Amino acid sequence: MADITTDVLIIGTGPAGSSTAALLSSYGVENMVINRYRWLANTPRAHITNQRTMEVLRDLGREVEEEAYMHAAAQELMGENVFCESLAGEEIGRMKSWGTHPLSKAEHLLSSPTFMNDLPQTFMEPLLFKTACARGTQPRMSTEYLRHEQDAEGVTTTCLDRLSGKEFTIRSKYLVGADGGNSLVAENEGLKIAGQMGVGGSMNILFRADLSKYVAHRPSVLYWVMQPGANVGGIGMGLVRMVRPWHEWLIVWGYDINEPAPVVDTQMATDVARQLVGDPDLQIDLISANTWTVNNAYAEKMSQGRVFIMGDAAHRHPPSNGLGSNTSIQDAFNLAWKLAAVVKGQAGQGLLDSYTTERAPVAKQIVTRANQSIAEFGPIFDALGMTGGTNYDVIKANMDARCNTTAQAEEQREALRQAIAFKKYEFDAHGVEMNQRYKSDAVVTDGQMEPDFALDADLHYQPTTWPGARLPHAWLFDAGGNKHSTLDLAGHGVFTLFTGLGGKPWADAAAKIGKEMGVTIEAHVIGPRQEYIDHVGDWARAREVGDAGCVVTRPDQHVCWRHEGLAEEPETELRRVFTQILAK
Ligand code: FDA
Repeated sequence: MADITTDVLIIGTGPAGSSTAALLSSYGVENMVINRYRWLANTPRAHITNQRTMEVLRDLGREVEEEAYMHAAAQELMGENVFCESLAGEEIGRMKSWGTHPLSKAEHLLSSPTFMNDLPQTFMEPLLFKTACARGTQPRMSTEYLRHEQDAEGVTTTCLDRLSGKEFTIRSKYLVGADGGNSLVAENEGLKIAGQMGVGGSMNILFRADLSKYVAHRPSVLYWVMQPGANVGGIGMGLVRMVRPWHEWLIVWGYDINEPAPVVDTQMATDVARQLVGDPDLQIDLISANTWTVNNAYAEKMSQGRVFIMGDAAHRHPPSNGLGSNTSIQDAFNLAWKLAAVVKGQAGQGLLDSYTTERAPVAKQIVTRANQSIAEFGPIFDALGMTGGTNYDVIKANMDARCNTTAQAEEQREALRQAIAFKKYEFDAHGVEMNQRYKSDAVVTDGQMEPDFALDADLHYQPTTWPGARLPHAWLFDAGGNKHSTLDLAGHGVFTLFTGLGGKPWADAAAKIGKEMGVTIEAHVIGPRQEYIDHVGDWARAREVGDAGCVVTRPDQHVCWRHEGLAEEPETELRRVFTQILAK
């Protein structure tokens, strides 16, 4: 007999675990979350918070979204991505990033009601954790997961109470391993991690120093420093990373993984900071320093029976592209509603299989993308003549050569421009962040062809209502003239059916089938004199079905079915679709 019982036990209170807890509690599912430490993240690792993640926060509640913006550095402060010899030294190039280029900005504005921002993990975690606990999650800190055993009815997990030193057991219907890049849950469950761990070495130096005079005129979250040794290990180049504008910073500097990890003491941290800032007299107030390794690994399967892994437990990669915490929170958005539906008896266990089917390809995609981004610094080093040596004078002469008036120097400048522009794939890859299309039994395409990407799928988000894709955002208006995103009408733990004039039978069928199947299917008829009006026509252009057709979304705002016009028997159609999705 276990000491404690709960429906879902979550290991880890990082972005993955805390968001799963917050979502489950919002859906009314009993859950418990544990962390082996007494509190949440103590270093600001993740910052870049993309639009899709902000949509998850918005789904949790406008107050959650607003609080995130309140603590975040706004998008306007993120974008002057600078390449330089040091902060005080010569600037070598720059590119507008994170949706701040006017053309990208337009794409961001058209794609989502939310804004990308820079929110340190030390703010994101408390926000998600607080939301979870306030809504019913039972937290247990200083509690370490040791092992688990699953059987046909549930999972028994053994934990260590680190305060008393005593072991105890928790019995749950499901276990979620959100226990980070060294996941013991994944290991104990035998979930295979493909790829390689420890492909590069890196150190983090977190410190306070007012660097306004070097950066405030070119606001950015990232300042890339090109010095001899900058391309060794690490994330491809030396980095001075804004934590709080402009007085708190994180330096990321690589080391050779074939050598032992350096001991980063105050002297070494100060020396590295002085070197990258370019001020030999800089005084820093060191907060912490640590080393970590660059990984290139992902889980091929993210679940087995009643055990699931998510976040860094399933995808282990460098911070390039800022995808780690974002993808962790998006894993949670995918899994939480499925667990809720099964725990509440609305769906069969089969629905849970779609989690790994849908998210494992994303894990592979983002790990590959992040590691590729490291390699793509290479052409910048090549263009500057920094590759293949560490002789400072030679490198300096090669870099200086670009300032000559020769044809060769002109070629060098062009190569540098192209190499920097190509880094769009790391610093402005909107498609990587937003284009996920799921293919699983929790989506019914009825054989409709997947639309091709008209533009580069990594760089540009392409809205579509093709089943499996995220619902396109369009502003709709109520009778009072207030605007609501289509995404606001979807989500919140329920299915949603969108139709237009002539589609009322779909809405009627949704109410009936929802009742019959024990799930909520909200229905919205959009059109003149209806509850929501498409005044600007954006929804009509995005929906890819006729007025009397329908688009159906899941609680995670992904389209799960659509129909071009009114069917002869809407109820029969919806019954068929929901029987499949809910694995009845
Ligand atoms: P995470 O590691 O955060 O949390 C794991 C949790 O499990 C912790 O609470 C831990 O205590 C707990 N735990 C582990 N083992 C346990 C056990 N046995 N028992 C109990 N509890 C246990 N991402 C991003 O999206 N944008 C960005 O800009 C960046 N930037 C960035 C910079 C740097 C320098 C780094 C190193 C990383 C980033 N990241 C990032 C990545 C991001 O930090 C990372 O992907 C997330 O923290 C992953 O969240 P998880 O919740 O999966 O794991």
